[in-house]
Amino acid sequence: MSTEPDNSLKQFAPDRVLICPSILAADFGNLASDIKVAELAGVDFFHIDVMDGHFVPNISLGPGIVNAIRPSTDLPFDVHLMISHPAKFIDAFVAAGADHITIHIEAEDPVEEVIGQIHSHGCSAGLSFRPDTDPSRVRPYLDTIDLVLAMTVEPGFGGQSFRHDVVPKITQVRGWLDDMERDIHLQIDGGVNNETAIVALHAGANLFVAGTTIFKSPLGVNAATKALRDALTSQGTVETS
Ligand code: DX5
Ligand code: ZN
Repeated sequence: MSTEPDNSLKQFAPDRVLICPSILAADFGNLASDIKVAELAGVDFFHIDVMDGHFVPNISLGPGIVNAIRPSTDLPFDVHLMISHPAKFIDAFVAAGADHITIHIEAEDPVEEVIGQIHSHGCSAGLSFRPDTDPSRVRPYLDTIDLVLAMTVEPGFGGQSFRHDVVPKITQVRGWLDDMERDIHLQIDGGVNNETAIVALHAGANLFVAGTTIFKSPLGVNAATKALRDALTSQGTVETS
């Protein structure tokens, strides 16, 4: 068990509206400086999209990159494992600096075993479902996780359009989380912009992954982050059912 201060996502109240830029959309040739610019812009933590070319048809980055960017910021690293066999890599991503790790319900390892492995390192743990997956597949594990990630695009690539058909699933999961005795975040990822974030907020999401909207905006990272934050805070707090 880690004796370090808890830098996991458990430090945040479940009704806090938080912005987590995905470095998938950052300049891979200048990740450290993009991270510093985003931190100065006031983002809450960083979302790191890991892809294995098997679970999704793309390959992104591994523990070596996470280790290389770790010194760039003290903000939490939220590692999203879009990989078929997460069990093999939990220790490596924790050693590289992950504070939170999300695995997919559609992955091939036993969910409870991997969630337990993540928690044994003192990290918070999340469970994600793809847009076409029935969210009830994550319900049996709600007692053991700290976050549910509803994918609002088919995982694999940034810059896709938000899938509005996932919105009722966000609402459904929010209803389950509100009935739980424990604090669980509801995160969305994919196609998040100033308009779609508001739709998801009203459906019950509280954590917003944004790659393109933050790192590829013509406004620049600082103004884009402020615009997204203003859009969300203008709507009041997280909707509970
Ligand atoms: C998909 C990735 C993307 C990324 C954010 O596998 O998880 O959703 O984080 O993408 P955009 O650019 O849509 O914000
Ligand atoms: Zn992601």
